[in-house]
Amino acid sequence: MESRVIELTQSAHKYGNLNIASCGSEFFPPDVFGASCRKAGLGIPIIIKIDGLPNPVETDIPKDKKTGKPRWMFRERKWVREFLRYHNLYPTDNILIERIAKRIYQVRPENSKRFRPRANVTKSTPSSNFLSGTISKRRLDKLTTEQSLFPKQHRKSLDLRLNQSRPDARKVNILNSPKKNGSSTVDSLPYLKELNVKIIENAQPIQFAPNINEHIHRWAPYVQGFSALFVQTVLDQYRKIYRKPVVLDPFAGCGTVLVQAKLNGYLSTGTELNPLLQFIANTKLNSWDVSPRHLLKTYKEMPRNKRRPAPTFIKSTSQFKKPVLRNLEIINAGIASIPTHTEKQEKIKNLLRLAFSAILVDCSNLKRSPCLGYVKNKVIHESTPFVLFNQKVEEIADDLHLIQWQHKDFIHTESNVICSNAMAFKHKNKFDLAITSPPYMNGLDYVMNYKIEMGWLEFVHSQRDLKKIKDAMVVCDNVSKGLIRRFYESSSTYTNTWIEEVKANIKKNIVRRGTYRREDMPYIVHKYFDDMYKVMKNVVFCLKSGGRFILVVGDSLIADVYVPTDLLIARIGLDLGLKIEKVEKARERRSGQIRSYKLRESIITLIKKRQSNGS
Ligand SMILES: C[S@@+](CC[C@H](N)C(=O)[O-])C[C@H]1O[C@@H](n2cnc3c(N)ncnc32)[C@H](O)[C@@H]1O
Repeated sequence: MESRVIELTQSAHKYGNLNIASCGSEFFPPDVFGASCRKAGLGIPIIIKIDGLPNPVETDIPKDKKTGKPRWMFRERKWVREFLRYHNLYPTDNILIERIAKRIYQVRPENSKRFRPRANVTKSTPSSNFLSGTISKRRLDKLTTEQSLFPKQHRKSLDLRLNQSRPDARKVNILNSPKKNGSSTVDSLPYLKELNVKIIENAQPIQFAPNINEHIHRWAPYVQGFSALFVQTVLDQYRKIYRKPVVLDPFAGCGTVLVQAKLNGYLSTGTELNPLLQFIANTKLNSWDVSPRHLLKTYKEMPRNKRRPAPTFIKSTSQFKKPVLRNLEIINAGIASIPTHTEKQEKIKNLLRLAFSAILVDCSNLKRSPCLGYVKNKVIHESTPFVLFNQKVEEIADDLHLIQWQHKDFIHTESNVICSNAMAFKHKNKFDLAITSPPYMNGLDYVMNYKIEMGWLEFVHSQRDLKKIKDAMVVCDNVSKGLIRRFYESSSTYTNTWIEEVKANIKKNIVRRGTYRREDMPYIVHKYFDDMYKVMKNVVFCLKSGGRFILVVGDSLIADVYVPTDLLIARIGLDLGLKIEKVEKARERRSGQIRSYKLRESIITLIKKRQSNGS
């Protein structure tokens, strides 16, 4: 059996284009190449069986109108994105195309050894009508044995297929969910009993949104951030106990905890794996001595006669309108021309880079709400980059004025974020308070969501760079399958009875449902807690006796299984020798899967017991 491996590009995700040029023309029958448009004549189609999708697809390969050469992609493309979604495949992942009969091919992720049988996915009967481009099993079987060459009249009848859609398995599962109208309040009772803990109601503003009006915090809009007010409430709560606490945030993000700690004059440190966010946090923390007058002067003197090309690997030309893109390139070149001979120049340049990163999404055809996605008909004027950049720089200059007037005693208070993995980094300092909000289990992708800023600020240069950072993070539910496979093949992982129970229930429910977005979900859940265990272990190590570890985290509902993330984190704390001081409910939220199911976001306070010698 002949096969070819092809690498996925952005275009596969966006338009369903699989770049099959590397397969070579000898891999396909010579008559498969059709005219550039359907009307002008199709080639004799091949059949593609797709791993994970119920129906094979019939397609030819179009030729270019001008050159007459193959365009090296399949004409039928609707199935591609469904296939990528099913297997959670990303640009730079590889897929395998095998020729299993003269005109029949099979497509699957490169590493999946097995071609999944149809029983795994939504069932369709031979008599049902299929998605455009797909053919019935009976017909496929016939073709496989006869090696039919699809006479023209047959092709016409295939095109007249009715386009009735299959029942949506996801919707059916939601309608039949045993968790409809349920809540974590009820489902967490057995876990609370075992921990001997009660949830305290304590509604709090824990989200970033109000920060957009707060000095310094407002420099960069980071939707996943914490509320500065919440951090201040925590700091106020322990003011008397620690007097001048040394503060740690292992998941520093854009630095909300650390900025707030510095505004109180407290020393602080953090780790953050996304280099863009680490840069933003450090710039917010360590530019307080920059003269606003110098900042504005440097900005005004920036040359406007050069362009620094936009990053190409993230498809900037689709993300921005042409004149907008040109003006962004002018601003970017202006910033790049600022020399960095002195520390002062370097700080000013960093502030301007931060300001530039903060306006990119607003200038684009996209929106972050909270995930990055295209917005139809977003009106962006050619001058928008200049207007927004000017506003942002002035906003920063105003805040610098204020800091130098109101917080001058703390300008040099040490605070920094290290670009490192919180699972591995060993701090030398000892901390009184660790305050953090870890990534949520089925939450956001903290890398792909910031790819535009990461690309323009040149923290990454390819999709591969992005993937590398993502794979090192605390797991989210769109990591590569290979990463999860390597995890469950490894032996030294943390687990406990609750994790094993949750895993077993998720496995059972995936079988009951017949299909699920990620069949390896039980292991993703397990990896999440293993990752969190590693981070918590590092934090516990550097926490002073009597120090507190405060985490804001939300629980989850996965494949109709309640995952008590907050209580599991508390239990890991117990395993690491901490005491659960309290678990507070800060907010109620709805499950993304079963909207009528109520989840909570909790504040978990763990305390490191004082050693018996009283130290
Ligand atoms: C919920 S956000 C934290 C937001 C932060 N509290 C703020 O206000 O900006 C979680 C952060 O953890 C980071 N992260 C994920 N895995 C990490 C790891 N292994 N080491 C360090 N940081 C990580 C993500 O990039 C993300 O910025």
